[in-house]
Amino acid sequence: MKKIDVLVIGSGVAGLTLAIKMAERHPDQKICVLTKTSKEESNTRYAQGGVAAVWNFDTDSYQKHIADTLDAGDGLCDKQAVDIVVKEGPTRVKELIDWGTRFDKAKNAEKYDLGKEGGHSENRILHYKDLTGWEIQRALNEKAKSYPNLEYYDYYFAIDLITQHHLGRNVTRLTPDIKCYGAYVLNTETRGIETFLAKITVLASGGAGQVYKTTTNPDIATGDGMAMTYRAKGRIENMEFVQFHPTSLFNPAIENPAFLVSEAVRGFGAILRMPDGTEFMQKYDPRKSLAPRDIVARAIDNEMKMQGKDFMSLDCTHLDKEDFYAHFPTIYDKCKSLGIDPMKDYIPVVPAAHYICGGVKVDEYGQTSIQNLYACGECSCTGLHGANRLASNSLLEGLVYAERVVDDISLRIKNIDYQEGIPDWDATGTTDPKELVLITQSVKELKEIMSSYVGIVRSSVRLKRAFERLHILYEETEQLYMTTTISPQLCELRNLITIAYMITRSAATRKESRGLHYTTDYPDKNDFLESTLM
Ligand code: FAD
Ligand code: SIN
Repeated sequence: MKKIDVLVIGSGVAGLTLAIKMAERHPDQKICVLTKTSKEESNTRYAQGGVAAVWNFDTDSYQKHIADTLDAGDGLCDKQAVDIVVKEGPTRVKELIDWGTRFDKAKNAEKYDLGKEGGHSENRILHYKDLTGWEIQRALNEKAKSYPNLEYYDYYFAIDLITQHHLGRNVTRLTPDIKCYGAYVLNTETRGIETFLAKITVLASGGAGQVYKTTTNPDIATGDGMAMTYRAKGRIENMEFVQFHPTSLFNPAIENPAFLVSEAVRGFGAILRMPDGTEFMQKYDPRKSLAPRDIVARAIDNEMKMQGKDFMSLDCTHLDKEDFYAHFPTIYDKCKSLGIDPMKDYIPVVPAAHYICGGVKVDEYGQTSIQNLYACGECSCTGLHGANRLASNSLLEGLVYAERVVDDISLRIKNIDYQEGIPDWDATGTTDPKELVLITQSVKELKEIMSSYVGIVRSSVRLKRAFERLHILYEETEQLYMTTTISPQLCELRNLITIAYMITRSAATRKESRGLHYTTDYPDKNDFLESTLM
């Protein structure tokens, strides 16, 4: 059994930022960062476009960034959360720069080169070429090394949160004082399950894109933190709002993850066209290729279906090659590796699952409904994104809420003790799996179900069918879980089923179309204004 002051599950922008701040402010406390693969692997690492923040006050203002965020969120943003993130954002980004993060400067100038993406009325996105996330992840990992009280546990997979349930008490969704005492964690090297007892546990475990067949998210994005919280009877919100990025690179060889062609490319002047060269976005929104993501992704999906095409096209052929390469070297090289020259050929693009706006419900300091459990970053639902996230607001949200979580923990941790009497994980009655195909095939089935029935366009019949299929997978997997030695693959399957269930259930509950949730049975917005809470 390990005893830790603050246990952080996840090493992306949210987890590392708050671990660094906690370690800095409290040198006497032990902070542990768990990560289920290597500390460099996360959604953060793949972020391309950048971090949105009001930077040039001559042309931009907090009011404009707030208005853009609210507009994208389609009536469901929490205004307080929007205010917090937009107004505290620039200070947090400056800290990131002080910690060694590089952002591109404008040519021959000291000022930052501010990019633009869909839904933004101004240029306000700081970026490092098309590798912004990689650069942030690098700088944070580097900074984290300098704290002796901050310890990493790579290849440690969190399985379940520890609550009163593990002390033999009955815990339900109505129990008012559920407490978190840490987590049971699988050491993937020894395959032993260790107890991490913590005064405070923070989920920073990222998104859940792997619940769909085509996604920009890496393998680690299986919604573990949200699923663990759901099992621990914590509150989850807004799961129906799954953001599909309009432009992942179409590759007939199907890559997992799908390669992203950043929205910043459209901000740079690229135009969406049909494969024959005809522009189509003017039919859907006056902002055309730079309309918010929900609108563009639905438009592409609709055109593909109407025309029976496998992809739509992104036209960059009119852009300056040198400038394009300076901004998007990774995208250029990737296209060239597939025989596409972005300066001569259209880039074939398709929508792909990209971001989940819902998650573990938190207050303005990142506190969940479970005591001593916080959530930060993509796994949380702060209310910032409402029904649709504005591009490049996610890294910003992680940075801003990391500070707030640390503020709150700092006030409270001295009054918290370790819980006595937590039992070791009980693995009696389980044996090694005889056929891994039972797990891998179920993951494939799950992705098929979600992509076919709970994708960009939904209907009541599709959602009902998804429920029925998911139920079969759920029963089979629970049976397997009761009798099989724990593995990351089995835990991820179980978590993905939980995520799929929550998305489907929230989607079925929302009897309207709003933001990222579109259903043919209720194509309009109505007065269903409540967010969906579980
Ligand atoms: P992540 O960065 O995903 O980190 C999650 C961490 O949790 C990982 O370390 C993982 O190993 C760990 N973890 C998960 N489960 C467990 C477990 N069971 N046990 C132990 N550890 C676990 N947003 C922007 O704002 N701007 C952009 O330009 C942008 N571009 C993007 C491009 C791509 C291709 C993608 C996929 C996303 C992009 N996003 C962008 C979204 C943004 O990158 C993510 O929302 C954000 O990085 C999430 O950060 P996080 O710290 O919450 O989680
Ligand atoms: C992109 O670069 O298009 C992704 C930006 C984001 O998801 O915020």
